Amino acid sequence: MYKQIGILTGGGDAPGLNAVIRAVVRTATGEFGMKVIGIEDSFEGILGETQTVKLTKKSVSGILPRGGTILGTRNRGSFAKIVDGQPVFPEMPISEALANLDILGIEALIVLGGEGTLAIAEQFHKRGFPVIGVPKTIDNDLAATELTFGFMTAIDIATEALDRLHTTAASHDRVMILEVMGRNTGWIALQAGMAGSADIILIPEIPFSFESVLRKIKEREREGSKFTNIVVAEGAREVGKGEMYADKEQLRLGGVGNYVRQRLEEMTDKEARCVVLGHLQRGGSPNAFDRMLGTNFGACAVRALASGQTGKMVALQAGTIVNVPLSEACANIKTVPVDGQLVRTARDIGISFAAPKESDL
Ligand code: F6P
Repeated sequence: MYKQIGILTGGGDAPGLNAVIRAVVRTATGEFGMKVIGIEDSFEGILGETQTVKLTKKSVSGILPRGGTILGTRNRGSFAKIVDGQPVFPEMPISEALANLDILGIEALIVLGGEGTLAIAEQFHKRGFPVIGVPKTIDNDLAATELTFGFMTAIDIATEALDRLHTTAASHDRVMILEVMGRNTGWIALQAGMAGSADIILIPEIPFSFESVLRKIKEREREGSKFTNIVVAEGAREVGKGEMYADKEQLRLGGVGNYVRQRLEEMTDKEARCVVLGHLQRGGSPNAFDRMLGTNFGACAVRALASGQTGKMVALQAGTIVNVPLSEACANIKTVPVDGQLVRTARDIGISFAAPKESDL
């Protein structure tokens, strides 16, 4: 049994990180009698002059409903560089981090993160250091788990935004466009779009055409609805074109919502407005589901470490938490199946994905 373990949070923050931290500390210090050290600012906290904090049941008291992460996070750093779109893991920082973990007396790590952070965690495992990953991302794009914590809260926020846009769109007979997060996948756009009664959903998995968007707007007009609500994932792209970037060098997506607005105003006599929901989807308190999922993930991660497992990620499969190899979790991202049940249901109730021909789906 480990005497002392470390915990860190990496990548973009997501509602529910503190719920996981609290559950890890309570489980580890309670039943298993381990000490827990919080590593600050993701893996950066175990480089150079290390930044750590002792975590106790008392120090995590009251954090369950809090957004963000009490440990701080980074989604860019020293441990992975992107070369030709692929992560490359430099040798130096990992060796330095392993030496520092030894000095700090940290015998195993629980790492909360998305694909990038968990790929770094896997490098520690490959060097023989015990690691368990916990899947986090509002995008819900991690393979091997049905859900990541943070996603359901993001959907709630995007759905509320759509509800609010609905009434103003209807009052002004406008086209309203809501741009939501989702780098490579359209899970937030799809599920919030269905829950918030969007008329058109644009996702990275289904390139869209403006002809098809216009077809849907006109169809609604013929049926007597002079307004249209569109939800667009930040990574959505027009047929034959690439994603739109707010900052190409930093690979920061953004701009597709306003592009759709501008083009529709040029192509129709309708007024259009765009709202970019951005980091509102990541900030603030987790909903009840994410608090519960995060708590279960945290306790299961400690139990996995205590039972001698390593190189695994806790994952939700068929309503139960299981342990899957980190390599499996990082191998691919989980995209929206374009011929799957949810897309089919959305189409059946009249939602358009604006594929050049909807029958192409
Ligand atoms: O991966 C989560 C995510 O929310 C993406 O959907 C988005 O592109 C990215 O983070 C934005 O990150 P930031 O602006 O914090 O660098």
